[in-house]
Amino acid sequence: MPRKRKSTPILPQWIFRGALDNAKDVILVTEAEPLDEPGPKIVYANQAFYELTGFTPEETIGNDPRMLQGEDTDRATLDRVRAALKAHEPVRVEVVNYTKSGQSYWLDMIIVPLRDPHGKVTHFAAIERDITAVKSLERDLMRRHETATGEVQRLAKANDVIEASRRQLCELDAENNRLLSIIGHDLRNAFTAIIGFTSLLEGRLPDLSTAQVANEVTRIHRVVKDSHRMLENLLAYSLMQRETPEAKLQPVSLSPLVERVLGVLEERAARKGIMLEPLASEHLVVADERMLEVVIRNLVENAIKFSHAGGRVRILGRDVDGRSRIGVSDSGIGMSEAQVRSILDHQRVKPQRGTAEEKGTGFGLILCGQLIRKMGGQLSVRSELGKGSTFELVLDRVP
Ligand SMILES: Cc1cc2nc3c(=O)[nH]c(=O)nc-3n(C[C@H](O)[C@H](O)[C@H](O)COP(=O)(O)O)c2cc1C
Repeated sequence: MPRKRKSTPILPQWIFRGALDNAKDVILVTEAEPLDEPGPKIVYANQAFYELTGFTPEETIGNDPRMLQGEDTDRATLDRVRAALKAHEPVRVEVVNYTKSGQSYWLDMIIVPLRDPHGKVTHFAAIERDITAVKSLERDLMRRHETATGEVQRLAKANDVIEASRRQLCELDAENNRLLSIIGHDLRNAFTAIIGFTSLLEGRLPDLSTAQVANEVTRIHRVVKDSHRMLENLLAYSLMQRETPEAKLQPVSLSPLVERVLGVLEERAARKGIMLEPLASEHLVVADERMLEVVIRNLVENAIKFSHAGGRVRILGRDVDGRSRIGVSDSGIGMSEAQVRSILDHQRVKPQRGTAEEKGTGFGLILCGQLIRKMGGQLSVRSELGKGSTFELVLDRVP
């Protein structure tokens, strides 16, 4: 059975008064009118009010609560209070007030309209709590949160950088391992060949004619030279990795550089009956001279390697859209589309023997690709099986 609610007994006024006077929160009662100047008069303030504000009852009773406001009291908050009072609605706000001595503090303030037995609003009552300590804690936490957020963002950014470098290092490491195994493999093959040829010479020297000895020596010489070329490339690659991680870009005059490269390879080309055609015009490009020389030497070496007797290897230069295009063109055996694609994808091309059975490693083109990228250049390849290939290197032109 529902219990019948007991009605509140009518208590004498001194009991209410004692409760209000001794409350820890501030309690203020004002008249309901006028909301405009001079404002509703304070008719009651409890002990907590006098302790918090430092005002005396004489300075308080009959005065208006706006005496507690000052510079940092937020106008928009007061407008909310005013609108609620006008509409006779309760309102709760947080606002800055000042003590009699000018010390600011934060208030959590609830104002409610008080109605007489006929329902007419005759007074307002405010229950107010000093929340200065809470506010300063809040501000402190906010500041710490902002610092922590900033720190987290900074760490996240640093982490991204570290992750990118780590990935780059992993790629470089994988590439280095791959190259090491290629070189190791090719060097072992070269030494196996040299050991084979020399032991043949050693064991059968008295039985061999001078022509046969010369023939063996030529074969040994070719293997040694191929290995030497490979070592030179390896050295250039390791130098690039360790000592000159960045290209030293500067104006480079192309003609003398090409002349130098062709001078070194002239004899090899002549032996195969291949003509080398130097650049017809001078071009001034932005490049790292040493890197560019390695690139052009490798491209011309390849062109000689894959050309037939009577063929020609041309070095071509042209300027297009402010950049220089330097081509190494041959009329040799050419490449399939798949081979061209793997060169452009920076993959190692399956080594192929040259027209005079020259051996290769496929390493030269990987090295060229890396050097060209370091110089901010691009490599394009045009080739047709049986017709020849053109490797074109695009570099910035000196304006
Ligand atoms: C009962 C009561 C107590 C109030 N106590 C405070 C107070 O302690 N601090 C304060 O800044 N405003 C207090 N106010 C609000 C201001 O008196 C006033 O209503 C407010 O500033 C909006 O009016 P205005 O637009 O004339 O400024 C109180 C208002 C009432 C009705």
